[in-house]
Amino acid sequence: MRPISMKAPFHMIDPARLPAHIAIIMDGNGRWARRRNLPRVAGHKAGVDAVRSTVETCTELGIQALTLYAFSTENWKRPRAEVDTLWRLLRLYLSRELPQILRNGIRFTCMGRMDQLPAPVREELETVIDATARNSGMCLNLAINYSGRAELVDALNGILEDARLEGRLRELRIDEQAIAARLYTAGLPDPDLLIRTSGEMRISNFLLWQIAYAELYVTETLWPDFRRADLLHAILDYQKRDRRFGGLSPAGPAETEWIEVAGTLAR
Ligand code: FPP
Repeated sequence: MRPISMKAPFHMIDPARLPAHIAIIMDGNGRWARRRNLPRVAGHKAGVDAVRSTVETCTELGIQALTLYAFSTENWKRPRAEVDTLWRLLRLYLSRELPQILRNGIRFTCMGRMDQLPAPVREELETVIDATARNSGMCLNLAINYSGRAELVDALNGILEDARLEGRLRELRIDEQAIAARLYTAGLPDPDLLIRTSGEMRISNFLLWQIAYAELYVTETLWPDFRRADLLHAILDYQKRDRRFGGLSPAGPAETEWIEVAGTLAR
């Protein structure tokens, strides 16, 4: 692993308050290419360098999980040539990066409806999943042929199917834990930080359940330009946030102040 550059605001990051799980909507590859009069696929190709850099920085920081939105179920609507290029780039990335992934102890996983992927892509993914399954470092989780709604549908159908097989369908009650346990991300902490590049203010069907309390960070930077400094800025911004999870921050009004307010209201 390379030592961390001191030029980036790395020293400003509080290692005790790192997001456990970072999720990224990698957007803007097409615009990056258009601004250079290049075909869209050139943007995807350049996007792979941003993936490499982001994985490297997250590993160095000691982030527990990184989820990247690589292909949505809606992306099949794109021209066939673009979709095929995305599969080619993904396979190339996996085969080229496997040695580095292994060296860094990364556990590779992916989520989405894998059965609909072209067989060579599925096989390449399975090779890397199997080769890294026993690693204990960062989990690099790729969302491929992924949709947040489809994930919830799959989770609920899984719960129903288990109950049916075990003969307890009639008394079945579903709670939040049961759903979380059947999501593709079961076993991972919910993302603390959701980054979206290219300035779009949308969630795009990504991790709909898991981002309930994620901090959102949208940057104008297009994905192919996203590098270590951009990620560090996002984390620094995250560390300035006051996360209350629906409660009050520790620095909020003291209990005695509320008693006074309640007394005033009662008069
Ligand atoms: C969104 O940009 C990006 C994608 C749909 C694909 C992301 C793929 C990569 C970064 C390369 C391969 C991935 C891995 C994990 C190696 P867009 O095309 O929607 O951009 P636009 O909105 O500017 O058109």
